[in-house]
Amino acid sequence: MPLLAIETSCDETSAAVVHQGRVLSNVVSSQISLHAEYGGVVPELAAREHLRNLIPVARAALREASVEAGQLDAVAATRGPGLPNALLVGFKAAQAAAFVLGRPFLGIHHHQAHLYSAWLRGQPPVADFSKFQPNLSLIVSGGHTLLVHVRAELDHHVLGSTVDDAAGECFDKTGKMIGLPYPAGPEIDRLAETGNPKAYAFPRPMIDDPNNDFSFSGLKTSVRYFLRDHPGLLDDAQRVRDLCASVQAAIVDVLVTKTIRAAKRLRVGCVTASGGVTCNRALRQRLTAACERERLTLLLAERNFCTDNAAMIGILAERMLMLRSEPTTLDADILPNWALG
Ligand code: KG4
Ligand code: ZN
Repeated sequence: MPLLAIETSCDETSAAVVHQGRVLSNVVSSQISLHAEYGGVVPELAAREHLRNLIPVARAALREASVEAGQLDAVAATRGPGLPNALLVGFKAAQAAAFVLGRPFLGIHHHQAHLYSAWLRGQPPVADFSKFQPNLSLIVSGGHTLLVHVRAELDHHVLGSTVDDAAGECFDKTGKMIGLPYPAGPEIDRLAETGNPKAYAFPRPMIDDPNNDFSFSGLKTSVRYFLRDHPGLLDDAQRVRDLCASVQAAIVDVLVTKTIRAAKRLRVGCVTASGGVTCNRALRQRLTAACERERLTLLLAERNFCTDNAAMIGILAERMLMLRSEPTTLDADILPNWALG
């Protein structure tokens, strides 16, 4: 069933066509450069940019997939969580398309879609759920840090989340203090490559707590005090790289330690990771090494499926239709604060 999926929850306008677990197209128009000037996503600008980009992006997705709108069997869109006005653009457009085509519509939970994005592999990307196994899933993005037990397909239980800043937010806010452009995560990753992760000792918040929650605002504050106490450090390129590597090591240490501990406690054999921060090379390396050591199968979302994309929305929507989930009504509203589970 060719299915058109739309994602507009934050600052990426994306449309994808999927068919039987295969991603036929996945077009993403990022607004990063638009928001960079403001040091973060400006909700009203994001919504207006989605309005401008959505139809061209959807057209491109259909063209790349060689699918005509009339051939679509279903339409899906992100229903939440996300920025209200941004969500509205994609959600209402998708409902209107489903109405005109007379096809079922599905409103999808953005984080639930991240849970399955790690299953997309290869070129063209295919999600092979015949290989599905219960897993512990880490979702790390600019807005969220979640540990989720995926007990079976479409059956998940949130174990913990951040009590304050998300991991990506910590990358972005500490990067801003260092003077890096928004979003700072990729830049810290790049600078950290030639830095010493043991140069400066930063706290690993909640690393020893037995729960599955995270907290990153204290780490951000300690970087602020560190910079106050080391005036002039930012003028020394090598010390900046050491600082980036040390901050990154603290964030990654907490994420990996708590993920592996939760996986072992639950006795699952598989770990998955997704969300923008999963692009981070240190996180990928450390999770890979830890899972090898613990004999856990690891599925890391491929880089283009880590950040927000409509392919993951489409893959989940198609799976839900196959497993006989009820379609969403055409007058349903967005759910900007929709909790997972
Ligand atoms: O999933 P995403 O595209 O959007 C949200 O839903 O937030 O994630 C964006 C976040 C930003 O905080 C960005 O700094 C972070 O992911 N990020 C990274 C890297 N690439 C993106 N953080 C660390 N290292 C990276 N390589
Ligand atoms: Zn996301």
